[in-house]
Amino acid sequence: MSDKTKKTGPFNSLREFMDAIEASGRLLRIKEIDQDQYEYTALMYKLIDEFGFLGAPAVLAERVKINGKWVEGPVIANQYGAADLEALAVGVNLSDIGEDQVSNYKEALKKMTALCPIEGIKPKEIPTEAAPCKEVILRGDEIDLENFPFLQTNPADNGQFINTGNLVTIDSENGRNVGTYRMQIKGPRKIAVNAGKGQHGEVSLSGRAKRGEKIAKAAVIYGADPFVFAMSSSKTARLEQDELEIAGGYLGRPVEVVKCEDSDILVPANVEMIIEGEIPLDDMEPEGPFGEFFGYMGEAMAAQYYMNIKTITHRKNPIFVNSFTGVSRGFITSPGEANSNYNMRKLIPNLVGIHLPSDMVGFFFLSIDKQRPGEAIEHAEKFAQFLGIAKVLVVVDKDVNIHNSLEVMRAVAARWQPGTASKILKNAVGLSTDPSSMGDPDITGYNSHLSSKIIVDATRQWPEEGGPENFAPMNKDCLLDSFPDALNVVENKWGHMITAQRKKYND
Ligand SMILES: Cc1cc2nc3c(=O)[nH]c(=O)nc-3n(C[C@H](O)[C@H](O)[C@H](O)COP(=O)(O)O)c2cc1C
Repeated sequence: MSDKTKKTGPFNSLREFMDAIEASGRLLRIKEIDQDQYEYTALMYKLIDEFGFLGAPAVLAERVKINGKWVEGPVIANQYGAADLEALAVGVNLSDIGEDQVSNYKEALKKMTALCPIEGIKPKEIPTEAAPCKEVILRGDEIDLENFPFLQTNPADNGQFINTGNLVTIDSENGRNVGTYRMQIKGPRKIAVNAGKGQHGEVSLSGRAKRGEKIAKAAVIYGADPFVFAMSSSKTARLEQDELEIAGGYLGRPVEVVKCEDSDILVPANVEMIIEGEIPLDDMEPEGPFGEFFGYMGEAMAAQYYMNIKTITHRKNPIFVNSFTGVSRGFITSPGEANSNYNMRKLIPNLVGIHLPSDMVGFFFLSIDKQRPGEAIEHAEKFAQFLGIAKVLVVVDKDVNIHNSLEVMRAVAARWQPGTASKILKNAVGLSTDPSSMGDPDITGYNSHLSSKIIVDATRQWPEEGGPENFAPMNKDCLLDSFPDALNVVENKWGHMITAQRKKYND
């Protein structure tokens, strides 16, 4: 990595972002780590225990021991975990990034909200000679995936996986799709492609198979910049939209793309590596299992697509990226959250915001400015119908900070009556990654499971909803009603002592 000045995003490439992380003192650089002993995985657990999902630093290991051999990295992890790093990635002013990670996330969200509605910007093609991802070209037998430090993350995983690759497929009906799906290494030049049932990449491939095609040429983007990776890892781009265009909209400039070696597929040029190959559309193989993001081992797939690799192009000294799925946060979420808020406000004008808390996978928080009795449950039901990951949906009033899980739980404790302010949905869409969900024996895959769900209406219940005539006021509100300046006064008098204590506490 090169220019290590402290600067904010958006960044043109992953390595520019890594330089900024290192310059801000938030990179844990390790000389070598023994993944045969699962040291990297254990380190990530320890860092999350110590600093939490929104606080743990990014990590870089220069060399990694894999299958008894030391392999040169660097292998990085958790670069999208901490909220200060997310703020950096999306371009929050450095002076607005501080120690409070909830505030950092909210700053990132504010920045992304200001860009909505997001207008896509078409990618711009650059010549092959100018594309960093083409510095080294490997073809056919020159390729052996074993030479690269792709990790086995957990001893119970079925081997090593490329788990941060973004599959690019082209479909005559829906155009280009870019999706992050794990890729189990199946041979020196063969990887599985785990696009789950209903995922846009799977829709693209199965659509082509139904139209009688036998082979799909495809490419895997590896080591993309934060926005391309976030668009590839979320549903911010709808089926018919192009992730690279939407990423360009957030970046405020076109994503530079370059033509693949073996096809006309255009891929981002500033990434670490491009894996090109062919996906047979009339053949499938078993895949997995792999430790999933709910924190439990996922099910093995009976039949999944795979890719025969023909060409790999990469930068000199490429950076490798492992996602410690189920241990730490996977990608920056403020762009997608801002976009969902914008779109959902068209349906629910009094929506304050929605949030999927990274520390409570399976929960979904929704904040509204309640206007009429019963509307909390009504709105939550709309999200429950399509959001597989939302199993426990908690609705709160506008005064509750949905980015602070503890504050939401305190509202649940004090404002929710389970007997009168809940709704259970018996058969809603769930995720296979939730080990308690109900599978369909005929289909395996990401979106194929059913789950029951509960809506928790933790808004202050109105008398018409069975609540008290006068809901008790909060102690803090009583204080601030009588002494509106109390907190400022204290800050002015003793703020310096509080700051000094914080420093001692952090040391
Ligand atoms: C690190 C990481 C790994 C992922 N692995 C998978 C996977 O193996 N299969 C899958 O269907 N989705 C996986 N996802 C979720 C998808 O990337 C996400 O649902 C995205 O919206 C898929 O793109 P699409 O909407 O174009 O289908 C993963 C996400 C991340 C961040």
